[in-house]
Amino acid sequence: MDSFDVCVIGAGPGGYVAAIRAAQLGHNTVIIEREFLGGVCLNVGCIPSKAMISAAHFLHRMQHDAPEMGLKIKGDVSLDMKQLQKWKTSVCDKMSGGVAQLLSGNKVTIVRGDATFKTAKELVVKGKEGEKKITAKHFIVATGSRPIEIPGFAIDEKSVLSSTGALALDEVPATAVVIGGGYIGLEIGSFLAKFGSKVTVLEANAKLLQGVADPDCVQVVERKLKKSGVEIVYGAKAQSYKKAGNSFEVAALVGGEEKKFKADKILLTVGRRPNGDQLNLKGIGVALDERGFVKVNPQRRTNLPHIWAIGDIAGQPMLAHKASHEGVLVAEVISGQNRVYDAKTVPAVIFVDPEIASAGMTEDECKAKGFTDLKIGKFPFGANGRAVSLMETDGFVKIIADAKTHVVLGVHVVGPEASNLISEAALAIEMGARLEDMALTIHPHPTLGETMMEAAEAALGHAIHVIQRPLASARSAGAATRGANA
Ligand code: FAD
Ligand code: NAI
Repeated sequence: MDSFDVCVIGAGPGGYVAAIRAAQLGHNTVIIEREFLGGVCLNVGCIPSKAMISAAHFLHRMQHDAPEMGLKIKGDVSLDMKQLQKWKTSVCDKMSGGVAQLLSGNKVTIVRGDATFKTAKELVVKGKEGEKKITAKHFIVATGSRPIEIPGFAIDEKSVLSSTGALALDEVPATAVVIGGGYIGLEIGSFLAKFGSKVTVLEANAKLLQGVADPDCVQVVERKLKKSGVEIVYGAKAQSYKKAGNSFEVAALVGGEEKKFKADKILLTVGRRPNGDQLNLKGIGVALDERGFVKVNPQRRTNLPHIWAIGDIAGQPMLAHKASHEGVLVAEVISGQNRVYDAKTVPAVIFVDPEIASAGMTEDECKAKGFTDLKIGKFPFGANGRAVSLMETDGFVKIIADAKTHVVLGVHVVGPEASNLISEAALAIEMGARLEDMALTIHPHPTLGETMMEAAEAALGHAIHVIQRPLASARSAGAATRGANA
């Protein structure tokens, strides 16, 4: 039996970060991984999907924007999907290899294999070299999640694909039906459409990304998706599929009526569920909620004091940066630091075209929390010099603040580099910044970041590069001061 201070199960962005931090803090640490270092995120999730999205964006810009910029490409710009897959794999391998180096460099023991709790104090790991028994003072469960399946659509990665199969396609399907218009369906559906697939999205709700993103932001993306030929069917419940010639026919109930959709590939993206069942968590007495997520306290401790859970298995939001944040937190709590999970916001990005990013609350969430009097400022990318020079002017920044205190409550961006812009908003919200803090911070020119400053100015009634109505009085414009933290 091998014995450690800390045993981390799962080497995704939750687990590997927890292991590194625990080792930095002087703990004898082991990490167990059954498949790939870096988890879903680095191997079949965040990184490969962003690689495909980057390639699709590049291709689209060469086809659509380059000629207007006077850039002439000899012959057709075309896609070599096999070469793209090779490059994508090299990106993932580089990232996963980096994790291996970091773990080794921090003297974390890596054990390859499938872990199961035999008792609450002992793990059995089944690997290629047989079984290993491991005990530890603390166990950090970071085993992530896997796709949800629905009746009639068993994932076989041939006809019905999960994100993993869709990201590994070495040919572009002529037609694709995407079941579920959430994060994954829209990110993958968008790049498939740019590669030339005729994409149909079947969404059960009346809206895309319902409850996930600001509805005004979603509208911008929806318009662009439709313009690029993506068909979106709302209120659609996929029922079954069958072979029809060389492709498939998907049957769905739409408003109570059966409709049929042609698909060379079917992509099932209706959410993800926690990987707890294979670990025997229930068997050893770890409390789970009704959907199988591990119940944790604000320090990410389970009901068994020496077992902790982080990342997707510990519940929403199922995002890599939340998993990593929790990984650091737990390692530090185990080391005796007095910390709790007290993040004011987990920023979220949906890598569609244009990107949607948000930090803090939407208008509806603000109202539900009792902030009835809001100041909202909006600034369009069309009025930003950098966006115009990039030829990427769709979208806007929207800032929501408490009208009384001007404290920033939410920032929602749809537009170019929204993913990179949102960190400023997250920092503002964490620091309790006021509109004046964002408006009076000098932002470099010409940058997309100026849209944040101008949206804050717009909320205060005096953005320079849009006409403000009603015009702000000189008096209120002059009253701007920085917040309490200045
Ligand atoms: P995971 O990354 O799932 O890692 C868990 C690890 O545990 C896996 O490597 C697994 O093999 C291992 N494991 C499981 N059970 C056992 C066991 N019994 N024994 C040993 N090992 C085990 N999030 C973002 O923030 N941004 C994005 O852009 C983004 N894009 C995504 C795109 C796709 C297509 C998908 C599917 C997800 C995406 N996500 C994104 C979500 C993100 O990948 C997850 O939130 C994140 O990976 C969760 O990290 P984790 O450490 O909890 O688990
Ligand atoms: P999701 O929860 O984002 O979206 C699922 C969608 O499917 C919803 O719109 C839902 O209404 C719809 N749906 C559910 N059942 C349906 C049915 N039977 N028929 C038709 N539609 C149905 O789930 P998704 O896209 O699978 O992603 C899982 C998680 O992975 C996300 O919630 C997110 O946490 C994470 N992720 C994050 C990314 C990012 O940060 N950029 C990218 C990809 C995934």
